[in-house]
Amino acid sequence: MIYGERIRFRAVEHDDLPTFLKWVNDPEVKQGLGIYLPLSMADEEEWFSGVRNRPPEEHNLVIEIRKPEQDGEDVTWTMIGGCGFFRYEQRNRSAEFGIMIGDKAYWDQGYGTEAVRLLVKHGFETLNLNRIFLHVFDNNPRAIHAYEKAGFTLEVRERQAEYRDGKYIDLLLMSILKSEYLERGEAI
Ligand SMILES: CC(C)(COP(=O)(O)OP(=O)(O)OC[C@H]1O[C@@H](n2cnc3c(N)ncnc32)[C@H](O)[C@@H]1OP(=O)(O)O)[C@@H](O)C(=O)NCCC(=O)NCCS
Repeated sequence: MIYGERIRFRAVEHDDLPTFLKWVNDPEVKQGLGIYLPLSMADEEEWFSGVRNRPPEEHNLVIEIRKPEQDGEDVTWTMIGGCGFFRYEQRNRSAEFGIMIGDKAYWDQGYGTEAVRLLVKHGFETLNLNRIFLHVFDNNPRAIHAYEKAGFTLEVRERQAEYRDGKYIDLLLMSILKSEYLERGEAI
């Protein structure tokens, strides 16, 4: 487990696949993702076994939030999304990341930003990365805002790189360097 303030990351289990499938087929959620066709359980199974064969640094993580503790009750955790690194390059010490808060009831409560910060901390302080980057569609202000809050800056605008809903959208490349992370002094 990787613990943040209100969230934690755990490894993805096979039992999580139906929940992921529901999320990635939700039109509002997938609008921000590189997914544009309906996905089946077979697609999810293929994704799951594909990830298992990737380097351990690229294994996806489930984002869980701590439920408010009631008197005398045990702490419980609820799954709200997933995140992880891909395009991990050991020699260049760089990786790209992706994130999805799949349960929309938890959008705009700071969980996305906290997950990005925790993943960045994990990337720099555990995986010893030097550069973390991401791609985000220009029409996803919620994500862009969360990334900016976590310290990412715009590096490149790929003009009209994506075709969605009858129009072209710019694709933004954003990044954060380890030196910038350290300057922010934001260790969680
Ligand atoms: C993008 C995503 C991870 C953000 O997670 P989140 O928990 O909703 O984000 P946060 O609450 O931490 O931050 C979102 C910020 O954007 C703001 N925001 C929301 N809608 C906005 C809009 N239309 N314009 C500008 N800012 C907006 C929120 O107010 C919040 O800022 P604040 O904390 O300063 O008020 C989540 O919405 C998600 O998974 N979406 C679907 C999949 C996706 O798009 N993934 C990203 C792919 S690049």
